Amino acid sequence: MHLANLLLLASSAAAVSLPNFLDVSSLFTRDILARSSGSCPAVWTQISKDLTAKFLTDGQCNPDARAAIRAVFHDCGAWNKAQGAKGGCDGSLILANEVALPENNGLQGIAAYLQTLASNYKVGVADMIVFAGSHAIVTCPGGPRVQTYVGRKDSSTPAPEGLLPDVNASADSLYKLFLDKGLDASDLAALLGSHSTSNQFHFDESAGNVGAPQDSTPGIWDVKYYSETTAPPKGVLVLPSDAKLAAHATVGKEFKGFVNNAGKWNGKFADAMARMERFGSNGTNGLIDCTKALPSATNAKREFRGMPMFKPRH
Ligand code: HEM
Ligand SMILES: *[C@@H]1O[C@H](CO)[C@@H](O)[C@H](O)[C@H]1NC(C)=O
Ligand SMILES: *[C@@H]1O[C@H](CO)[C@@H](O)[C@H](O)[C@H]1NC(C)=O
Repeated sequence: MHLANLLLLASSAAAVSLPNFLDVSSLFTRDILARSSGSCPAVWTQISKDLTAKFLTDGQCNPDARAAIRAVFHDCGAWNKAQGAKGGCDGSLILANEVALPENNGLQGIAAYLQTLASNYKVGVADMIVFAGSHAIVTCPGGPRVQTYVGRKDSSTPAPEGLLPDVNASADSLYKLFLDKGLDASDLAALLGSHSTSNQFHFDESAGNVGAPQDSTPGIWDVKYYSETTAPPKGVLVLPSDAKLAAHATVGKEFKGFVNNAGKWNGKFADAMARMERFGSNGTNGLIDCTKALPSATNAKREFRGMPMFKPRH
């Protein structure tokens, strides 16, 4: 830690009235101190090391990373504005065993891993799902660092049904589903870009299609998804929801705006994803910013530095 940060931390901690936490256990005191100073608990830096080992293979993000990104959507995204400061990112994907539902098929493996990791490090399951998803995004070469908080409350109450998208639904109904979450056409088009790093296993289970990617480079966070959804090269399987939304009057216009425009997409994606990661929270009140515990973003086109085990791909 830099000296300046240390001084800042010390001064903000000192500003808190001491008697308030003289009477609580030291662990709790440390937690309050971390909150009042806004510093991310050190355990997340340790967790980050485990997640890098889990998510990165040969310099690309792997199937576990892809599942972790989808897991954030399926925990946080099963929410709408009417639910306010409950539900959303609450760990119910795992704690209410939502992973057993058909719409969550394929997430069982990552769910079990994240639950064990949360338990080993004594952190919340909801926070673990979100942190791991953000971690997976920035692990993919080209992926942005999403503003990421911890401090959520876990819940074993299942999310209401019908709040996750149906792959066969009409573009209008999908658009409305996202509007009800406070996500507009541009947010939806940007979030769909996470299918840049996607392989489908259960939508089409016919031989030859299991594992088919939604763009030609599923290990890299790039904008090929946006051009290839409307003109798929051989081997790329386009989900009907993606095809319909790309052709939708309002969402499609935003979708086309990301074609060949990685800079625009990443900014918009990171913003929308950060908001999704706060579904069910009261803004950032009571949360701690742990963005700095995530790895730094890596450029998809640049070779990786300081990590000799990566073989650059050409
Ligand atoms: C209209 C909205 C969406 C629909 C209908 C949809 C549907 C799907 C479907 C059917 C799959 C394939 C699952 C399988 O068969 O194994 C998939 C994969 C995936 N989705 Fe979505 N999705 C939507 C939005 C999102 C959003 C907003 C995110 C994240 C921000 C996301 C992230 C992912 C990821 C990362 C995968 C790949 C999972 C893997 O490779 O294991 N999706 N999605
Ligand atoms: C979507 O439609 C396809 C083709 O009709 C069908 O095979 C599939 O089971 C449907 N998926 C869902 C989740 O309804
Ligand atoms: C949200 O946070 C604000 C600011 O701390 C607080 O005044 C408000 O009561 C909180 N609302 C809920 C629903 O917790």
